[in-house]
Amino acid sequence: MSETSPAIEVSALCKRYGEYEAVRGLDITVRRGEVFGLLGPNGAGKTTTVEILEGYRARTSGDVSVLGHDPASRSIELRRRIGVVLQSGGIYSHITPREALAHWASFYPHPREVGEVLALAGLEPKADVRSRRLSGGELRRLDFALALVGDPELMFLDEPTTGFDPEARRAAWETVRSLRDLGKTILLTTHYLEEAQALADRVAIVKDGRVLAVGAPRELGVGAAHYRVAYRESGGELVERETGDPTTLLHELTGAALARGERLEELSVERPSLEDVYLELTANA
Ligand SMILES: Nc1ncnc2c1ncn2[C@@H]1O[C@H](COP(=O)(O)OP(=O)(O)OP(=O)(O)O)[C@@H](O)[C@H]1O
Ligand SMILES: [Mg+2]
Repeated sequence: MSETSPAIEVSALCKRYGEYEAVRGLDITVRRGEVFGLLGPNGAGKTTTVEILEGYRARTSGDVSVLGHDPASRSIELRRRIGVVLQSGGIYSHITPREALAHWASFYPHPREVGEVLALAGLEPKADVRSRRLSGGELRRLDFALALVGDPELMFLDEPTTGFDPEARRAAWETVRSLRDLGKTILLTTHYLEEAQALADRVAIVKDGRVLAVGAPRELGVGAAHYRVAYRESGGELVERETGDPTTLLHELTGAALARGERLEELSVERPSLEDVYLELTANA
């Protein structure tokens, strides 16, 4: 397959659990070298979709291609080219992070150095501690480290930073950025919308097993009625207004103030954040 073909293509994906349809005709395309964020409320079908792409769950119907392979075939070649942070790990209670990483690295043709990955994940002080003695956040760091150690070209990170302290989260962001700079492709799910805004080239907002919107985090906000304009008139209370057309509103407000010979104090305009757009889309769907 060519280098320009997408890393992941999903079309009309459906997944039933008995009678329940968790994924209902989902389409996404992830380009090579991009960080793609899958966002959506609890139960939206994100983990189901990601685990189908990883080859961990079987789909009911639809077409799926991951690096040119059907993940349902569970090919060894594909396994060696992907790295995974599962939403719930917890398989390695008696071994140490160093042992777990060395073991996992052995499945990959060109793994990273274990010591380097321990440092990247902030696990050096705990490298030789049995994992049942690690804290929740430290275990999550180990999950993240396990996804990195094989140095795969495609990574699936399902809520990778849940439970991380703020410093660890920033460090993980730096790591994800450096992976992107190396040309890796990353599919990320997160409930931290500032994380998606900081990392993702594009995001898909998913609800009830369908995609509601796809685009760059900045583009998704365009056209949303959520620009916030705030100002104070002649020493009065701070007024906050929402508008989809900040140009016109500012023109009216500033025109009226100037006509009175006044200035608007503390004037500010705030773009809709990804969180605003997310809340609006998922509430209306
Ligand atoms: N093994 C399963 N058997 C039956 N139902 C399941 C199974 N796994 C998931 N579901 C249901 O499918 C729906 C989607 O679950 P999924 O784990 O994909 O959601 P999610 O978007 O990852 O949510 P979260 O943000 O909470 O992680 C949920 O309603 C869940 O209860
Ligand atoms: Mg999930």
